[in-house]
Amino acid sequence: MAEQPAGNTDVFEIMHTTRAMRRLRPDPVPDGLIRRILEAGSAAANGGNFQRWRFMVVKDPAIKLAVQRLYKRAYDETIGPRYRSAAPPPGVDAARYARQNAAVEYLTEHYHEAPVWIVACLDEGSSTPNRASGASIYPAVQNMLLAARALGLGSTLTTRHLLFEREAEAALGLPPGVHSYAILPIGYPMGRFGPVGRGDLRQMVFGDRWGESWDGLAAAGG
Ligand SMILES: Cc1cc2nc3c(=O)[nH]c(=O)nc-3n(C[C@H](O)[C@H](O)[C@H](O)COP(=O)(O)O)c2cc1C
Repeated sequence: MAEQPAGNTDVFEIMHTTRAMRRLRPDPVPDGLIRRILEAGSAAANGGNFQRWRFMVVKDPAIKLAVQRLYKRAYDETIGPRYRSAAPPPGVDAARYARQNAAVEYLTEHYHEAPVWIVACLDEGSSTPNRASGASIYPAVQNMLLAARALGLGSTLTTRHLLFEREAEAALGLPPGVHSYAILPIGYPMGRFGPVGRGDLRQMVFGDRWGESWDGLAAAGG
């Protein structure tokens, strides 16, 4: 798929071009656009429609910097060495993987400079988080990423702050029982939107029995 212009509403094009946009301009983003992103998030599926999600819109430079320090420490101590020694993922060649790693490093240094963050949280009270918890917040997160893309804004789903969860959530001022599941740094992208790199569906899809190919892929011209 060719590079796509910003400001698009075709849902399939949006999905195929919502890639991690890690190089963001510091220019302010109008609150009206952030509101539209939040509305898209709150339209998502969630368990029992209990809507235990809470979204913090963070612009305060001191809060962002405090979390960025933890985000960078997690990169320096754990994530960076792991990424540098990993093989490129499916559908991504070595050159693209090197560009991805450079962008990851860039975001690590500039995380706090994104003009707006949306911190996606769940108010879980005393219940223990499980897979259903994540399933009740990440659809909202994905809706927000798609909405940002549709509005010409860049973002990335980030969770690395969770390596220092307690300290990061204290810096964010979350009350007891509320946990963060993702931070979306949002801003106007420096670069252009383009297609995501993913592997071959035939490696991921089985029909009827695990490991068996699904003939629908061939029938659909795949
Ligand atoms: C659970 C999860 C956590 C992620 N955490 C981070 C993160 O902390 N920092 C980051 O730069 N990207 C993060 N990402 C983005 C992935 O690295 C990105 O989706 C992947 O490399 C594919 O990139 P693309 O969508 O641009 O093709 C995360 C993605 C997911 C789904």
